[in-house]
Formats: sequence, C-alpha cells, structure tokens
Amino acid sequence: MIRKLPQEVVRRIASGQIAESPRAVLKELLENALDAGARKIEVKIESPFNFKVIDNGEGIGYRELPLTVERFATSKIREFEDLKSLKTYGFRGEALHAIAELSHLTIKSRKRGEEVGGVLKVVGGEIREHRPFPFKEGTAVEVRELFFNAPVRRRATSRSEKGLMVRLAKVYAMCHPEVEFTIGSERFFRSSLPERIYRLTGIRLQRVSSNRIELFFSREERGVKQVFVNRRPVSLPEVEKLLEEKRLKSYVLFIEVEPQLVDFNLTPSKERVLIEDRSVIRDVEELLKEEFSLPRLITARESSRITYCTPLKLIGSDGTVIVAHDGENYYFFDQHLIHERVNYERLLKALKRREIPLSEVHPPLELPEELKEKAERLGALFFEEGERIVIYKIPEILKPEDFKLLESKGVESVAEIACKRAIKAGYRVKDWMEVEELFNEYLECENRESCPHGRPIYYKIPKRRIYNQLGRKLR
Ligand SMILES: Nc1ncnc2c1ncn2[C@@H]1O[C@H](COP(=O)(O)OP(=O)(O)O)[C@@H](O)[C@H]1O
Ligand SMILES: [Mg+2]
Repeated sequence: MIRKLPQEVVRRIASGQIAESPRAVLKELLENALDAGARKIEVKIESPFNFKVIDNGEGIGYRELPLTVERFATSKIREFEDLKSLKTYGFRGEALHAIAELSHLTIKSRKRGEEVGGVLKVVGGEIREHRPFPFKEGTAVEVRELFFNAPVRRRATSRSEKGLMVRLAKVYAMCHPEVEFTIGSERFFRSSLPERIYRLTGIRLQRVSSNRIELFFSREERGVKQVFVNRRPVSLPEVEKLLEEKRLKSYVLFIEVEPQLVDFNLTPSKERVLIEDRSVIRDVEELLKEEFSLPRLITARESSRITYCTPLKLIGSDGTVIVAHDGENYYFFDQHLIHERVNYERLLKALKRREIPLSEVHPPLELPEELKEKAERLGALFFEEGERIVIYKIPEILKPEDFKLLESKGVESVAEIACKRAIKAGYRVKDWMEVEELFNEYLECENRESCPHGRPIYYKIPKRRIYNQLGRKLR
C-alpha cells in the first residue's frame, strides 16, 4: 500500500538533509552571520552538540524572530529570478528551520536601529519562548543538545568532529579577511588576504593571479588545499586535478565568476558547484602553465653569448647547479639533467637526419616486409628477401631488439627508448664558455621541463621571496 507520510516525518527527513552533521549546522550559522554583513564573528565550540556563533551584523527584528525558524522563510530572495544574481550564501530559508527541529536553539538578536532586542527559544521545532531581551547589536545563535531527538545521528558523529568544525570555521575566515574572527581562543584580526592566509596556515605562500583567478601556493610545505568560487568553499575536482598535477603541496585558489554562470543550488550544502562558463577552467590552466614553466621569450640562436642579452641571465654554475635569473625569479637548473635533455634531443634529430654512424648487425635481423618503411625511417640498411627484409646495418645507438619493437610500437617511441638508453652520465663541462653553450642549446630544446626520464630540470623561486627574507623591497 502506498501511503503519504505524515507531515512531521516529511519535515524531519528534509531537516536531516540540511543538518546532516554538526559541521553542516555550523556552516549554516557562519554563512548567516556573513550574510548579515558582520565585521566580527565569534565561534565557540564546546562540543559537536553544543556551540554558538555570535556576530555584529544587521540583526533580526523582534517580530521577525519566529519567522527565522519557519521553513522557506528567507530575507534573501523573493523570486526565482533572484537566484541568478545571488550574492549571499543563504537563499533557501531552510537552515534555521532544520536546526530548530533537531536541537535546543536559542537566537538572541537586536536589529540595527531598534531599541530592544529579543530572544527566541525553540526545542525540537516548537517555539518555547519569544520575548524582548536586551542585546547588543547583532545576533547570537546558540545550538545545544544537537540531535537530541535523532539518536542515530548523534551516535554517528565522529570523534574528530570538533576538530573538523574548527577547521571549517577557519576556511570561512580564510575567504573573509575583512571580518575579524575569533575561533575558540584564537583571534584573527582584519587584514589583507595573504596575511590572513599566513595567520591561518603558518605558511608563507607564493601568489600568482590573472584577472579572475588568484592562486596562493607552496611547493615545499604541506598545510592547506582549498578552492573557493565567489568566496564559497567548494570542491571542484576538475580544477583540483590540475593543481595536483603541478605537485603543489599547499594551495588556496580563488575563482571569481559572474553569479549567473554558476549554480550553487545542486545540493543543500552548496558544496558541489556547476560552472557553466568553461573558459574559467581554461583560465586556471593558462595561469598554471605560465607560472610553472620557463619564460617563453628566450631565443638563443643569435649568438653564443646570447644569454647576456636575453631576459634569462646566467649567474654561474658550481658544476652541479646552474643558477640564472630573470626580472622576477631565480632559477636553479640541474646541469646534469640539462645535459641529458640536450643530448637526447640531439640524438633524436640526428636519427631523423640519418647522421648517426652505423654498425653491423650479427647475425642479420629478419623482419616481415611490412616493417620496411619503419626500419627505413630509423636509418637501417637492409635487403629484401621474399616476404621479409634482412637488416644488416643499424645506427649505433640502436639495438637489434629495438627493431623487434617496431611490430608493436611506432618509430617515434622506439627512437625515444633508444635515446633514453644511450644517454648516460659522464659529462664534464670544461669551462664557463661550455656551460653557456650547453645552456643555450638547452633553451632551444623542445621540452625544457623535464629530462628524458621525466625528472624536473629546474626549480624556480620568486625573487620577492628571497628579498622578503632579507628585508629588502623588490624594485
Ligand atoms: N546571524 C543572522 N543575522 C541576521 N539575520 C539572520 C541571521 N541568521 C538568520 N537570519 C535571518 O533568518 C533567515 C533564515 O535563515 P536561514 O534559515 O539560514 O535561511 P537563508 O539563509 O537561506 O535565508 C535569513 O534569511 C535571515 O533573514
Ligand atoms: Mg542561511
């Protein structure tokens, strides 16, 4: 038999989705405080079931207090159309209702411009008290006995919940440096964004930005990984993957998009978002590409001493590391890897131009006739015999086994395997001139990022960071 659920049950289910965990409840309180334009927010967490958020925002009018816990009551949108240009965190008008259903909730507030404030007490969805109450401007929302009537949920709350709640509060503090946050005994005064991030994480992150993207990152220190879209903490797997690929140990990424191009309304928690504008993702990609690769402006062909008139200037080498700089960064190159890369590309080219000396194959190698063209492209000498070719000379950097690979692999990848093998250590640079020459050749390589085995060739550090440490300003 299909039966309609009683209203009360329907309400409890819906509330359970929003007030899914103590963390989710805290998130709603924080967002309400921010939506109210608070300049100071205090978060006190006794336990996952007893906590409060106090703000100095615009407050709630005495008569409106009971409305706050009514379902779908909101001061933030009036029509569906408003959803498209949303600037506030809240808009569903569901949160306080849900929280009130599942806890002992007390709201104290005084609206800006009103003489007295009020207090509202709700237990399990039932209003128990609503009376005038002297209160400073702003709002205090206190949750006690959360999930007192949802024992399963209460038991399911993990031991680490309190820690996670503190962390959540800090995430909101991170994207609102203009608000003073007190979280437990820690206070974060109003400050600039980089300063706030530093205070919260203890890590000095580097900063890069383009018009609607701002990225803070560290390659050395682990501590934070967070993406924000329009100052909402979100998870954007696509973008997170791009950041992970750059092997950043910490990052904070801020993305700004037109409100109408992003949909936060996928789930009540608004954690998953849909960005309609694909160009945002491409912008992130671009920024990462620019920041994490060598400057493209270098052309080294004109003269052998060209490095002195290009943006990338050599400083010196100790035989292991080559140091260089441009206007903004210092670069540290692994001299050995540079050499490997140069040799590798030289060999590939030589192979293409058939410039590699040949050596005999003993005994001659027989291959099916259809590999004829491929063998030719790798520079082998052979004669045809019926359905087969007989190879008797091959470039000395290749081995007969490499030709056997031709049956399963393309010419390019076989050449690559051979080159990787051919390039070994054992390179000594005699003098500075040679370092320069090597370096110039390297600058013309097709791939300047990694050696043939995939190790990164250089490490880059902004001058600003060094100058900071020295207490000097970068002109
Ligand atoms: N800290 C606060 N300061 C001022 N007003 C608040 C605060 N918290 C809640 N409110 C009021 O209560 C209403 C309902 O809150 P909520 O249930 O979270 O829904 P929503 O945030 O989606 O509007 C809000 O629209 C707002 O008018
Ligand atoms: Mg809200």
